[in-house]
Amino acid sequence: MSPSPRIPAQFCPPVHVLDELELMRAGILAGPVGPDQLVSVSLPPELRDAGAGDTVELTDGEGVPVAQVPLAQASDGLVAAGAPTWLSPRSSRPFEDLHVTDSSSAEGPERLVVVDGPVDGSALEKALAGAGRVTVLALASLDGEPAPAALAAVRSAHAAATGRPEEVRAMVAPWSPRAPQAGRKRELILRALAGGAEVVEVPRSEPDAAGAGLGGGTVLFFTGLSGSGKSTVARAVRNYLLEAGQLVTLLDGDLVRRHLSKGLGFSAKDRDTNIRRIGWVSAEIAYHGGMAICSPIAPFDRTRRDVRTMVEERGGRFLLVHVATPLAECERRDRKGLYAKARRGEIPEFTGISSPYEEPEDADLRIDTTGRDVTELRDVVLAMLDEAAPRMVARD
Ligand code: ADX
Repeated sequence: MSPSPRIPAQFCPPVHVLDELELMRAGILAGPVGPDQLVSVSLPPELRDAGAGDTVELTDGEGVPVAQVPLAQASDGLVAAGAPTWLSPRSSRPFEDLHVTDSSSAEGPERLVVVDGPVDGSALEKALAGAGRVTVLALASLDGEPAPAALAAVRSAHAAATGRPEEVRAMVAPWSPRAPQAGRKRELILRALAGGAEVVEVPRSEPDAAGAGLGGGTVLFFTGLSGSGKSTVARAVRNYLLEAGQLVTLLDGDLVRRHLSKGLGFSAKDRDTNIRRIGWVSAEIAYHGGMAICSPIAPFDRTRRDVRTMVEERGGRFLLVHVATPLAECERRDRKGLYAKARRGEIPEFTGISSPYEEPEDADLRIDTTGRDVTELRDVVLAMLDEAAPRMVARD
């Protein structure tokens, strides 16, 4: 029997893997940094039966094949068996021309000034002063949807070099603080690029990257059982903000299912997809400094936490409101008659009845709407919002 090519040609690994490959290709990293790197990339399901001797083609997010990697079987799964074969360059990123292509490209500077997020202009100038030739190295991963902090770093490096090409050179090495072994990789990059030069690291000016001019938006995310009152309170908050002159996007559960998530059902997988879509859109809104109010059931802890991460990675603030009205009260209200149907077995996988609701342990606010007035609850939420994101609540 002739061996069949058991694995499909391609898959798209996480960005940090492509970054690592690029650094290997540039001769900055000698090989995978450690066991958490390339080797432990979790293979997509269709590749799980890959074996030693197989080859995978890694693509970037746009499907451009970047490298071919031979696989070997190791005790903990598949590992890269040898040097990758380089295929095409990755799809172009912002500031593509500044990206480091080989370890000698930084040769010559007396000083390597390192930025990895928003920095204070005067702190950067201070780091530049007194050296003849300086390279400002931005450690930043700009593939896909770049984080505000990464963009800020590169913009600062670029601005520092503008108008004085003889003295200051800007350079970007793909690096993300969230990648596995980020600290070790950083060390190796700096060592390779500094040569004998003095290394000066400029501290970040602000932790939340608002200085990038991106991010800084807010996602107010309500979670709770059907009939808990989350949509009612969310709508009251939205109305207040609109009346106060704000722009707000409301991503209510039922509304989203008529548009963005049309066609999805209520299996665990479909609910997960639904919430991730809401998360993706709201993270994008926050990235542009806006405000999204979401009110799906969002029954799964893992998915909610992932959405929080998505928003925060895009420079946004994520506030979780648990509308913790007890099931008995939701069922007593039963405005849509769905609980009665679910009890009769006419609706399968109904949250709270035949499908789980995982109570959040990371809620920023918990409210029970039983016997409470909507306006009063709206004000409780607004007070929290005002505390966390004052500029979002434009009160008189
Ligand atoms: S989620 O689980 O994916 O977050 P979502 O908020 O979008 O749910 O939709 C919930 C709404 O769909 C409920 O308010 C209810 O009107 C309706 N619905 C229909 N079938 C179900 C079901 N099996 N479980 C929960 N809600 C359902």
